[in-house]
Amino acid sequence: MSNHHLKTEGARVLADLNTLRALGAYKTGVHRPTFSEPHLHSLQWLVGKLPEAGLAGEIDGIGNVLGTSAKAGPKLLAGSHLESQNFAGWLDGPLGVIYALEAARVINLDPGIDGAVEVASWCDEEGHFGHFLGSRSYVGDVTEHDIDAARDRTNARPMRETLQAAGLAGRPRKIAERGRHIGYLEAHIEQGRTLEGSHLGIGVVTSIVGIWQYQITFTGEQNHAGTTRMKDRRDAGLAAARLCVVIDDRFPTVSGPRTVWTTGRITLDPGAPSIIPGRAELLFQIRDDNPAIVERLEALLREIATEIAAASGCSVEVERIRTGKPAMMDQNFQRAIEEAASDVADGKSVHMPSGAGHDAQVLATIMPAGMLFVPSIDGISHHWNENTDDADIVRGAEVFVETCRRLLSS
Ligand code: GLV
Ligand code: MN
Ligand code: MN
Repeated sequence: MSNHHLKTEGARVLADLNTLRALGAYKTGVHRPTFSEPHLHSLQWLVGKLPEAGLAGEIDGIGNVLGTSAKAGPKLLAGSHLESQNFAGWLDGPLGVIYALEAARVINLDPGIDGAVEVASWCDEEGHFGHFLGSRSYVGDVTEHDIDAARDRTNARPMRETLQAAGLAGRPRKIAERGRHIGYLEAHIEQGRTLEGSHLGIGVVTSIVGIWQYQITFTGEQNHAGTTRMKDRRDAGLAAARLCVVIDDRFPTVSGPRTVWTTGRITLDPGAPSIIPGRAELLFQIRDDNPAIVERLEALLREIATEIAAASGCSVEVERIRTGKPAMMDQNFQRAIEEAASDVADGKSVHMPSGAGHDAQVLATIMPAGMLFVPSIDGISHHWNENTDDADIVRGAEVFVETCRRLLSS
C-alpha cells in the first residue's frame, strides 16, 4: 500500500452508518422516502459532516448535497444516495455516501496527497418521484417541466409542493462543471448473492443494467360478479393475470442470460370483491445491459398483450414509460479497484455486472465512472432485513479509500 499519514477508520464508518440507520428506523431497516422528515434530516446531517473532510456544501434545489473542496490538484467525485425505498434496508445508498465521506476525510486533510475527493448525495435514486432525478439534474438532464410533472408514487403529492414544504423551492440546482472531476466512484452493497456465494469481499462492476418500464392497461367491462355468466365476461383483471403467466412462459425464448423482468404492481378497477374489473393496470419492468435484447422482448410483450386482449374480449394499451440506459464502467477505474482489492482484501475480488440501477450510470454519461460492491447477507435488499457483516463494511471502506488514492495519483 502507498505511504500515507491518515488511515481509514472502520469504527468511524460504522458509527456514521448507524447514525443514519437511526433516522427513520423501521424494524431492522429504515423507512426514509425522498423528502420525508428523516430523509431531510439525513441530508442536513451530511451537510454538517462535510467540514470534517475539508468540504463545503448545501442541499440544492432538487435535494442533492454536493461537498466541494478548495484543495489544489485533481478532484474525484464520489457518493450515492440517502433516501430509501419504503420500509427497506439501511445500507442501500448510505454505504456509498459514508465511504465517500471517509475517503474525503482521509485524503483531503492529507497534505501529502495531491487532490481531493468531493462527496455527493444524489436525491431520489430510489425513484419516489421519477428516476435518478438528482444525478440526472446534475448532468443537466432534468427540466423544470420534469419537476412540475413529478409526483410522489406513494401518495401522488406533487414534487413542487414537497420541495416547498422542505424549504428547497427556489434554491438553484447544482449542475456539473465539465472537466472539474477526473471521474466518479460509487460503492454499494451488491444486493445479490455472487460475492457471498464465492467468499469474495469485493465486486468490481463492469456494467450497470438499463431499466425499461411499461404501463400496460387492459380495458374490459365492469359488471356484476354474481349475475354475469362466465361466457359473457370481459374481465380485465383476468387478462392481466394471464399476461403475467404468458410472459414468464415465452420471455425465456428471446431473453439473454441475465435478463430479468418483474410485474411490480397490478391495479384493478374498481377493485371490489363483487365487481368484475373493468380496467387493469400493470407496472412492468425489464432489465438488461443489452438494448437489442430488450427491443426483442418489447416486441414480444406487445404481441402477447394483443393476443391476450383478443382472447379476453378486452382492449389493451402498452406504453413504455421509461427507456433504459445501460452503462459500461471505465476500464481504468476497474483496474484501480482491482489493484486496491489486491492490496487490502487479499486480492479477493471479482468482475461482475450490476443488475441494480445506480447513479453511477447517470454520471457515466459525462465522466469516467466506476463502482465497487461489498457482499450482501443472503443477497437480500429492498427489504428491511438487508444487511452486511461489519467486517465486510470495514474492508470495503479500506478498498474504497485506497481506490480513490490510486485514481488521484494516476
Ligand atoms: C435501484 O434501487 C434499483 O431498483 O435498481
Ligand atoms: Mn442504491
Ligand atoms: Mn435501491
